[in-house]
Amino acid sequence: MIKKGKNTMNKAKRKAVIAGNWKMNKTPSETTEFVKELIPVVKDADCEVVICVPFVDLQNAIEAAKGSNIRVGAENLHWKESGAYTGEISATMLRDLGVEYVVIGHSERRQYFAETDMTVNLKVKAALAAGLKPILCVGEKLEERDSGATDIVLTTQTRYALDGVGAEDARKIVIAYEPVWAIGTGRTATAGEADAGNGVIRKTLADLYGDETAQAITIQYGGSMNAKNAAELLSKVNVDGGLIGGASLKSADFGIIVAAAK
Ligand code: PGA
Repeated sequence: MIKKGKNTMNKAKRKAVIAGNWKMNKTPSETTEFVKELIPVVKDADCEVVICVPFVDLQNAIEAAKGSNIRVGAENLHWKESGAYTGEISATMLRDLGVEYVVIGHSERRQYFAETDMTVNLKVKAALAAGLKPILCVGEKLEERDSGATDIVLTTQTRYALDGVGAEDARKIVIAYEPVWAIGTGRTATAGEADAGNGVIRKTLADLYGDETAQAITIQYGGSMNAKNAAELLSKVNVDGGLIGGASLKSADFGIIVAAAK
């Protein structure tokens, strides 16, 4: 009982972050329209509201969100500051534009764009060095869950991603537990599964940085979170927010999820 009370108190101290991950959706002009629509919907939010949008939409998102409580993030970056890397975007470029957050290591990037634990780690460090807040994604595939490897996958991905990152910087990171089998499939993890996965990540953070730092770090759940299931998922002691794909593309649905994060 005492432990439960302490955990609830720790949760209350952590910053809740609800972040939309638009993936490859919406044009720049649609972005402007959407943000204008979203501003009144989320203006009374008790949590940090972030939209992570395609590179070409960033400028419009930032302009439209000015003066509101909506923060803007990118969905990827390159780890070098500049150079001969055709088609890539650096952390410095993003910061100069006014971007605050960046999604790193999303499973779609790991799966389709050869992202590895090593490049994820380089990107996390580059983002931090430039003053961007990483939203670091980790998560197991279905076969890994079925073979009982979930905990080891989460621990390993978290440890690799944070290699060489000090405790002070680690507090600036948001981690998103995203079981790959739950992303875009409509098959959400149960609230218990989400809480357990986030708990494994928090335990890993405690092993790396000590309990106080681990208790200060925001850990989201992501994977088919929507207007209907958000409140239950977010009620869990280790679930400090959500990374939302599909349901972040409609302002009304995203607003309901934001309102559920108290
Ligand atoms: P989903 O995507 O909400 O559409 O499942 C989540 C994500 O990929 O971050």
